[in-house]
Amino acid sequence: MEQTFVILKPSTISRSLVGDVIERYQRKGLKIAGIKMMQLGEEILREHYAHLVDRPFFPLLVKSMTATPVIVMVLEGKDAVAVVRAMTGATNARNAVPGTIRGDFGMSGQENLVHASDSVENAKIEINRFFRPEEIFNYGLVTVPAIYSPDEMD
Ligand code: PPS
Repeated sequence: MEQTFVILKPSTISRSLVGDVIERYQRKGLKIAGIKMMQLGEEILREHYAHLVDRPFFPLLVKSMTATPVIVMVLEGKDAVAVVRAMTGATNARNAVPGTIRGDFGMSGQENLVHASDSVENAKIEINRFFRPEEIFNYGLVTVPAIYSPDEMD
């Protein structure tokens, strides 16, 4: 099954929305393959947001992403990257469609609650950036036969 990478940003932590956000992923049928809390610093953010380091808002982005620890997750499921991106909603939460995480909980482009990988290739890079192999778990969910048909389980 495909894996994707998610950060519950300081906006989620500060607003005590961790449970609400994780509950959505679990209710959808995604499996948590890895999860941990960590304090980000400028070095890893320069790597993670390399395409944004020259943007005028980058210093504010670093300040925002280091304001509290974050929770990083590896979520697993069929087409997990696209499914989680759809659940996330538009970058600017004010434009995000209701029903998405940003659309339901946010009002900002910066304080937009979650980061989710935008492609399978980037998901692999981001998972390797934030997780050691032994922090990602391979286990079965007993609910899988009620989530997928047999021909969807590859
Ligand atoms: S872009 O603008 O399309 O190249 O950027 P994108 O890949 O969508 O990611 C933008 C990330 O930077 C965060 N951020 C901001 N974006 C736009 N404007 C402002 N002012 C801003 N401040 C922070 C935004 O939340 C996106 O974070 P991620 O974690 O990728 O969703």
